[in-house]
Amino acid sequence: MDHLSRGKLVTLVALAMCACTGGEGGEMSPAVEAQVVEAGAAAADALKGILITNLTGAMQQGGPASAIEFCSTSAGALMAGVEADQGLEIKRTTTRYRNPANAPDQPEAEALRHFETVLAETGELPGEWVQKVGRGEYRYYQSLSVAPPCLKCHGTSEEIDPAVQAILDERYPDDLAMDYAVGDFRGLIRVSIPADRVEATGG
Ligand code: HEC
Repeated sequence: MDHLSRGKLVTLVALAMCACTGGEGGEMSPAVEAQVVEAGAAAADALKGILITNLTGAMQQGGPASAIEFCSTSAGALMAGVEADQGLEIKRTTTRYRNPANAPDQPEAEALRHFETVLAETGELPGEWVQKVGRGEYRYYQSLSVAPPCLKCHGTSEEIDPAVQAILDERYPDDLAMDYAVGDFRGLIRVSIPADRVEATGG
């Protein structure tokens, strides 16, 4: 915490309050929550940035069919790189998954419900949320929305190129991640933060 200026700390605490505490047990001191948000947001932002840069590059070089290769193979490697840099475990999860390995576990399902409920009630998708899982883990979630370039691989059958569809059919026979529209809630980036990393220095 000592590297944080006072102003930044106040901002973080305010942000953490907006993030709302959830999950079992639920109790989280504002100081811990601020650290969970700080570490989680840094990792999620890094992942988003690296995926978008690389996806855009792959699409420009070879179009969606070659970008599929990127999503199936390199995305995992890029994610592992961000995990190593940040020292934190990261996952992408959603109710309508393409790869069954990205299906939500129980706390993730609860987080997805939280985002969906707030969206349904207020018309606005929350940007982030934090959760305590058991005694040893905190989770930070950041929402992902569908943007126009995503439709080439997650849109309707008219929007997906037949060459891309053929690869998707072969690799993901039970694909649930199609028929999205721009602005739809696509899923969450989940960052797992070990409790000892934030509780040791916080409140
Ligand atoms: C070039 C095709 C392509 C584009 C463009 C694309 N995706 Fe994907 N996406 C995939 C593939 C393939 C997977 C499955 C990756 C795997 O096997 O883990 C995937 C998986 C995902 C997942 C993980 C959950 C799941 O369904 O398995 C999320 C979240 C996701 N994409 C969001 C997005 C968003 C948001 C965009 C736009 C910014 C986007 N994708 C653009 C092909 C694409």
